Amino acid sequence: DLDTITIPIVVHVIYSKTEENICNQQILSQVEVLNQDFSKTNKDIDQIPQEFKNSASDINIRFSLDSIIRVSSTRTEWGTGDSMKFSSNGGSDGIDPTKHLNIWVCNIGNGILGYAQFPGDAIATDGIVISPQFFGTEGFISPPFDKGRTATHEVGHWLNLRHIWGDGNCAVDDFVEDTPSSDGPNFGCPDYPTIRCESNNMTMNYMDYVDDNCMYMFTNGQKNRMRATFANGGPRESFL
Ligand code: ARG
Ligand code: ZN
Ligand code: CA
Repeated sequence: DLDTITIPIVVHVIYSKTEENICNQQILSQVEVLNQDFSKTNKDIDQIPQEFKNSASDINIRFSLDSIIRVSSTRTEWGTGDSMKFSSNGGSDGIDPTKHLNIWVCNIGNGILGYAQFPGDAIATDGIVISPQFFGTEGFISPPFDKGRTATHEVGHWLNLRHIWGDGNCAVDDFVEDTPSSDGPNFGCPDYPTIRCESNNMTMNYMDYVDDNCMYMFTNGQKNRMRATFANGGPRESFL
């Protein structure tokens, strides 16, 4: 299926400090990064090493900003237990998650940049959560996670991608054949080549843990896995 898929985004901004009430421009800067990264038009693709150039993929997914919801709260940290996804907790209810990607922007705390729900789980909590300072490329942002790649990574999970090391040793798979086997996350900005599991590691993949400006590709195999969620009977079929 080569058709472009367009995903409407609802952003829930839940804030206790003024700076966490991020401006519309910061939100738009994030949507732009998603559109670049999922269409292989990101400015840093020329950094992909020769051996991985043919694996780099245009996912052919677009994102459109549907609406922004702002909620003021006295809660300063939300953790990863999904309480921000319910107005009954002082958060904000997801808007028709079978047709919108809901993104909650709130202070998760504990140094956590973001987290995602995999497809096929509870509808009410479907979506991704990102701390405001790691969302978008301008405004209230914090390097080295200030290039909008946390959302790219989390949308990868939301579309069924695992971390490239499969969250295990060299024998544990990420169910993608063109991401080389790995046995753990890479951090910072690794040198190329970085050898793990006896091959050159794809440290620049969005599904690793490197800094934002050191991740710049999805693979063809990841594209197939993500787009399979939209197929007949797939968990994201309702978006088509
Ligand atoms: N730790 C988070 C997760 O596993 C996000 C990592 C994002 N990395 C980045 N460079 N922005 O979902
Ligand atoms: Zn992750
Ligand atoms: Ca693999």
